[in-house]
Amino acid sequence: MKLATIILAAGEGTRMKSDLPKVLHPLAGQPMLTHVINTCQELEPERIIVVVGHKREEVIAAIGGITTAHQSEQKGTGHAVLTTEDLMQGFDGPVLVLAGDVPLIQAETLRSLLEVFVSDKPAASLVTADVENPHGYGRILRDRAGAVTRIIEEKEADAEERAIKEINAGIYCFNSRQLFNSLEMIGNDNSKSEYYLTDVVSVLKSQGETVLACPTDAKEILGVNSRAELARAESIVQQGLKNSFMAGGVTFVMPETTYIEMDVEIENDVEILPNCFLQGKTKIAKGAQIGPNTRINDSVIGGGSQVQYAVLNGVTVDAKVNVGPFCSIRPGSHLMEGSKVGTFVELKASKVGPKSKVPHLTYLGDTDVGENVNIGAGTITCNYDGTEKHKTVIEDEAFIGSDTMLISPVTIGRGAVTGAGSSISKDVPPDSLSVERAEQKIVHEWAKKRRAQKPK
Ligand code: UD1
Ligand code: CA
Repeated sequence: MKLATIILAAGEGTRMKSDLPKVLHPLAGQPMLTHVINTCQELEPERIIVVVGHKREEVIAAIGGITTAHQSEQKGTGHAVLTTEDLMQGFDGPVLVLAGDVPLIQAETLRSLLEVFVSDKPAASLVTADVENPHGYGRILRDRAGAVTRIIEEKEADAEERAIKEINAGIYCFNSRQLFNSLEMIGNDNSKSEYYLTDVVSVLKSQGETVLACPTDAKEILGVNSRAELARAESIVQQGLKNSFMAGGVTFVMPETTYIEMDVEIENDVEILPNCFLQGKTKIAKGAQIGPNTRINDSVIGGGSQVQYAVLNGVTVDAKVNVGPFCSIRPGSHLMEGSKVGTFVELKASKVGPKSKVPHLTYLGDTDVGENVNIGAGTITCNYDGTEKHKTVIEDEAFIGSDTMLISPVTIGRGAVTGAGSSISKDVPPDSLSVERAEQKIVHEWAKKRRAQKPK
């Protein structure tokens, strides 16, 4: 549509006390700035320009592909908007200005802001909210008739003005031409010696223009300037995500204990037990039960599978698989339908075939396990020789005895058996038994004699 959006993201965010630029601090696994960009994109504007400055290479890398204007010195929000003037050439129409550190703003609110701007034709419309604690925000000044006259920054406000609870969200709609004209007229004669975008309001008023406020929910316009505010914003995002999953038929037992990232997908009739972390591009299919105490990143969990007390990263789990308790499944692993990976098991880049079982105390690395295989307790693949990693293949129906060391590269043939306690370094042919251990000796009466020799 005929719309441009400018997102301010050049500031350092001193109060975060961080090496990471403030706008890159994540909420639900995505930088704050990405949340704002995504919300803008819902409006399908002609142009989106992000103003970058502090550690701009890092910011540009994080938002890939979005047009950026460079504010080399952070001289204030008004100055930041001015840096987009060249990129805005040839555009004449409504422009939304947003802040990269007000990440919870909803597309619906931006649409209302725009609607007011288009239908009532003010020179500017701006998002405001009434908040309990207005500390840190610019306050909205109105005249007796209730019209907005000015925004006063907290640092410039007197006691009476500070008591005002209606705050400026830092989100505005202007006409592009009028915006740049007014910006030429603002000064930096204030306590921070900055060019405040908020001063555009008084400039417009002095020209006899109107400025309209669009009040919205205080939760949406939370500005993140500190770690405490970041935590507050995260809990609002988390609540929203879980509410929408619950509306879609997902059960959460104690939802407040589960952390979910933006890109996670969960089908209906999934049950999430307490203390789970669902991250990255994780997908969970219908009827699965996850948790308690489970962390899943970038993984797919098939329908009806159960995962408890486990850490999964980059894993594909098919339907009806049983995982945990207490296992770590690392990237490139694939657990096929009806398989089981049990207690104190670590897998790396390994496939466990249909109905195969790895129930206890096992490490499988770079291993391909076929169908219906049983891996005995304490089995370990010795897949790393200190320089290189090698593959282990365990074919269908094989039975690996407890405490087998599989020294790779090695293949256990279909239906073969390894004896408990064996170190297997040579391939085992199908249907055979391979045992590698010293013969068990028995010395009759030995223990009894030793006891008799002991002095009383
Ligand atoms: C700003 C508003 C304040 C409002 C609040 C809402 C001004 C002067 N004040 O205050 O009225 O209540 O947001 O959250 O606008 N930035 C730049 N270049 C700069 C300075 C800032 O790009 O030179 C960016 C920052 O990266 C940030 C945004 O602009 O994303 C807001 O800047 P910040 O310093 O956080 O402003 P506030 O003090 O919060
Ligand atoms: Ca801010």
